[in-house]
Amino acid sequence: MEDEPYLDFPGPSTPYIDYQSIDVLLSLQHPLSEAPAEPTFYVLGQVKELLFKLLYGELCTVRALLDADDVAQAVWTLRRARRVIELLTRTWDVLGTLAPTEFNAFREQLGRASGFQSYMYRMLEYVLGNKNAAMARPHRRVAHVHVQVQEALQAPSVYDAALHLLARRGSAIPDAVLVRDLSAPYESHPAVERAWADQYVAGPGDDTFELAEALIAVAEGFSRWRCLHLLTVERIIGTKSGTGGTTGVQWLRRAAEHRIFPELWSARGLL
Ligand code: HEM
Repeated sequence: MEDEPYLDFPGPSTPYIDYQSIDVLLSLQHPLSEAPAEPTFYVLGQVKELLFKLLYGELCTVRALLDADDVAQAVWTLRRARRVIELLTRTWDVLGTLAPTEFNAFREQLGRASGFQSYMYRMLEYVLGNKNAAMARPHRRVAHVHVQVQEALQAPSVYDAALHLLARRGSAIPDAVLVRDLSAPYESHPAVERAWADQYVAGPGDDTFELAEALIAVAEGFSRWRCLHLLTVERIIGTKSGTGGTTGVQWLRRAAEHRIFPELWSARGLL
């Protein structure tokens, strides 16, 4: 068999460009300064948004699989979600190379822009169950974004889907948890903590044990992302306030203390 790559294409494009709109993708980088470090910040910001989008899609798939009682496929997809979170977390290693002076050289170009206004990230927090309606406010005048963010706010989270599944399997999940305003912050319940602890009795190989561990792997990975964001920000801007209007590190430290899937963490105390 001949080893000959295809070098000639009839049209004004190549199949590779067409498949992933590569030319469009590579035309979307517009740093606002000549500062040498801005392209790193700019491209990594875009990379993170793409990964937020990928992760959001995977988590919506997990939710649908749990709704369909397909625990094995849900666990499989959660494994991939965890790997995507690891990739997201590694991007802080690159951003951490920005010296404060390098960042200062273009920081004023950001104006009031901040990751705080990342709607993909907000939707991700919502599908993971961290429902804070106030965080959707920045998007209310951006019609096409507002619709998506509101949808994610009102929809059940992956955690809700898991709790409904446990209830279908006979766990005593209270109605106050199963039927509630899904756009309001989730409140932990001792009966849910007990239900998760029960899933650990059977051990590895049992499907809801595997589900519990796959969910906590995602929760822990997500907390790592938040913690490394905090550390990277502290290293770069120290005690300065954020471009999004918060105290900066102090605000991020509080955010990093939050845990998704709360009773999966607290159930450890019962085991
Ligand atoms: C490397 C330089 C960065 C610094 C100094 C920084 C700083 C901050 C600060 C101070 C906040 C708090 C809100 C505010 O007042 O702005 C924040 C929030 C946030 N940042 Fe960053 N950030 C950086 C990079 C990034 C990147 C590249 C992303 C990914 C797109 C990102 C995503 C976020 C998100 C999603 C929030 C909101 C967190 C939440 O809601 O819990 N940040 N950032």
